[in-house]
Amino acid sequence: MTKNILFIVGSQRQGSFNGQMAKIAESYLEGKVNVNYLDFSKVPVFNQDLETPVLPEIAQVRQAVLDADAIWIFSPVYNFSIPGPVKNLLDWLSRAMDLSETRGPSAINEKLVTVSSVANGGHDKLFAIYEDLLPFIRTTVVEPFTASRVNDSAWADGKLVLTDEVAAELKTQADALLNAIEA
Ligand SMILES: Cc1cc2nc3c(=O)[nH]c(=O)nc-3n(C[C@H](O)[C@H](O)[C@H](O)COP(=O)(O)O)c2cc1C
Repeated sequence: MTKNILFIVGSQRQGSFNGQMAKIAESYLEGKVNVNYLDFSKVPVFNQDLETPVLPEIAQVRQAVLDADAIWIFSPVYNFSIPGPVKNLLDWLSRAMDLSETRGPSAINEKLVTVSSVANGGHDKLFAIYEDLLPFIRTTVVEPFTASRVNDSAWADGKLVLTDEVAAELKTQADALLNAIEA
């Protein structure tokens, strides 16, 4: 059966450079797996009071994650860290689905997760944070991660252009993820 990779683009901005990187990554996976993009725009700011009953917005993102064989996060760097909306999503996904057993499985439990990022700098710090966070929420990290700077012309015309070197790294990352899910 065809495997599923769920893309999480950590910027909801129209024209997002991380979204553009996701499209390039998607082209490397074409014909090998199904790629779906997670819409997490309606996920509220985490609040334990909102956990039960399960909100439809949370049920929807949980189901998308449960249906995925692997997750690929495309993350901007915000203030040398994970953008708040992505961290908020991961906080929700880290919670047990059955709160009567708080250490029980979450939707993201044991998922294979990899990360790429487009930003001006700060990738090393960002990736180190993901490398700490992802095992802590009981996911399995798939490396390598790929970092790209925003090319100078992109600030004028809005078009991300990867260097040949970064494009090759992204392809290697795609292959590593395919290997990990044995697609
Ligand atoms: C709140 C905020 C904080 C940012 N902090 C950093 C940073 O620490 N390092 C960096 O390289 N870029 C930083 N940026 C710039 C973004 O990484 C850059 O604009 C990137 O293109 C955003 O991703 P997107 O194009 O996918 O929206 C920041 C942007 C915002 C909005």
